[in-house]
Amino acid sequence: MTTVDFFQDNYAPVRKELTALDLDITGTIPDELDGRLLRIGPNPVVDPGPTDHWFTGSGMAHGLCLSGGQALWYRNRYINGDNVADTLGRPRMPGPRHMDGDGGANTNIIGHAGKTYAIVEGFNYPVELSNELESISPTTFDDTLDGTFTAHPKRHPGTGELHAVNYFFGWEDHVRYVVVGTDGKVRRQVDVPTGHSPMIHDCSITESAVLIFDFPVHFSLEAAMAGSSLPYRWDPGAVCRIGVLPFDAAGDAVQWCEMDPCFAFHALNSFDRPDGTIQLDIAKHAKMFDTVTNGPAEGPPNLYRWILDPAKGTVTEEQLDDRNQEFPRIDERMIGMDAQFGYTIGFVGEEGPAYKRDLRSNTTELHDFGEGRASQEMVFVPRSPDADEDDGWCLSYVHDANTNTADVVILNAQDFSGEPQAIVHLPQRVPYGFHSNWVASE
Ligand SMILES: [Fe+2]
Repeated sequence: MTTVDFFQDNYAPVRKELTALDLDITGTIPDELDGRLLRIGPNPVVDPGPTDHWFTGSGMAHGLCLSGGQALWYRNRYINGDNVADTLGRPRMPGPRHMDGDGGANTNIIGHAGKTYAIVEGFNYPVELSNELESISPTTFDDTLDGTFTAHPKRHPGTGELHAVNYFFGWEDHVRYVVVGTDGKVRRQVDVPTGHSPMIHDCSITESAVLIFDFPVHFSLEAAMAGSSLPYRWDPGAVCRIGVLPFDAAGDAVQWCEMDPCFAFHALNSFDRPDGTIQLDIAKHAKMFDTVTNGPAEGPPNLYRWILDPAKGTVTEEQLDDRNQEFPRIDERMIGMDAQFGYTIGFVGEEGPAYKRDLRSNTTELHDFGEGRASQEMVFVPRSPDADEDDGWCLSYVHDANTNTADVVILNAQDFSGEPQAIVHLPQRVPYGFHSNWVASE
């Protein structure tokens, strides 16, 4: 069992909100990189207690703005949920709250329809941020979102729309599939019957369908009554299955593919195969929130390939790699298609390297960032909109335990193991958190 203290070392929060304009750079930042590398994770504004979970700390956004071969700024800002505002003596955000939520978000940070959003699953609404990461307001996408959202919408590369699978403990027998249009408004909401209330962190899409991850981690009233900040627990007797729902189908048309109990936070990618099956590559955990209830540490996550057969209702699996890997990403122009390359990092307890996997030849390259240096989630940015897959750069925030600071490292994706293209040195560490995304300038 991996032992990780999710509130110490680089998991601990930082307290200063910085704006740094003069950043030291090693190497050459490519002119083509014009945008912001955004990152978010938990940064508890109040020191965590015994019933707190790593996942539920107040959010902090980090951003590095690149343009014209220059690093224009690094900023980090709390997401100004009511707990943060009240603790720090700041004005609360205007705008809607979901039920009695505090309006914060901590899990993912995305650009969509010209805006920047911090997002979280299961309860609070998305929070609109300024380009400089100041919190503006929670939002229901112009009153078009009915209920909760997700931390992991998937952008369909053909339409630019966001596909989301949302859950809420108050929805006792269903989850909700939502599509957010390119105008930034929800255009479709479909309830999908489940018969229970699962935790669903991610979804995946193919060119024709959304995949709904109904793993055996369910809302636990017992854990809620005990004060757990994340009252979801492993339920080994529950069904473990993935639903295949064609984009335009009614919710009860979902086709479930059952498998032995396991859990996954993050899919790498999925696509429709000519024989009617679906290939889904995913970071599989054997179980989740059974014996460890303050973070994701029930054993190593490994890359697996699952073949879903909706006609038979089955899933077959193959382990792709025996190293701990999480936070899988691809060139997002290939979402839902037969992508050749995936990018992951070592996690949990094997923090450090990043990996690039050729999903066809089943070979892996490794980038070693050096002794005491650990990559957070890696983001691929193409050289140009029509560049080939993998023709671009892999960017990540890298923690340096030697100096207790952070860098943003830019790798040439096609020289993955080689010397970095550039390293931008940041003025403070960036705590281990959740997700990064590149938001290109308009
Ligand atoms: Fe995630």
